[in-house]
Amino acid sequence: MSLKIMVLLFCFFYTSPVILASDPDPVQDFCLAQNAGPGLDLQCKNSSLATVEDFVFSGIRSSGKFKFKFSEVGLSAIPVNSKVFPGLNTLGMSFVRADLEPRGINPPHFHPRATEIAFVLEGEVYSGFVDTQNRVFAKVIKKGEVMVFPRALVHFQMNVGDEQATILGCFDSQNPGLQRVSSAVFGSGIKEELLEKAFGLSIKELTKLRRRFTPQHKA
Ligand SMILES: *[C@@H]1O[C@H](CO)[C@@H](O)[C@H](O)[C@H]1NC(C)=O
Repeated sequence: MSLKIMVLLFCFFYTSPVILASDPDPVQDFCLAQNAGPGLDLQCKNSSLATVEDFVFSGIRSSGKFKFKFSEVGLSAIPVNSKVFPGLNTLGMSFVRADLEPRGINPPHFHPRATEIAFVLEGEVYSGFVDTQNRVFAKVIKKGEVMVFPRALVHFQMNVGDEQATILGCFDSQNPGLQRVSSAVFGSGIKEELLEKAFGLSIKELTKLRRRFTPQHKA
């Protein structure tokens, strides 16, 4: 292969969005997303057409619906990324508003690509994470307090107050990713025999867990 072709190939792959695997350092003031999608949108809207509305988001003024999917746990979550808020695109940040009914929980989950700062706007929340030595760092935090969940570590929350609790979670990635432990294990179609052995479960117990954690569209 000639040097010229190699250089061309390198430039092509280096600039291809497919291999951009991390949040970028911006090389311009902003890059308003023009295509829907939670990840990086390299096609910036013409910046001459930007208005203040591109940098304001009003969709978390009130809580979302306590969706069917989460109804068992009493959680409503509104993730805010460049798909719904184009002004965030390429800035390496995103956030989520989460509301918990009394005794409602945010089940153990993690974000593979982001550290999260969770700010309690209302209520009292038992809040914590588990490190890779399985140590639990958890306590009740109250309105005005903040907890940090280090990147990729499993974390969880439960409303221990009498009123609805509201949390603002901020991520240092515009596409933090979300994996729920229960769904990854029991809702993903891993072979039954393996799960039985791994967790010491009977077929009956396993069937129940699989039914509970398999997403509706897969069931
Ligand atoms: C951006 O918009 C301005 C104003 O409408 C226009 O003059 C300019 O040509 C556009 N730039 C591009 C790259 O389309």
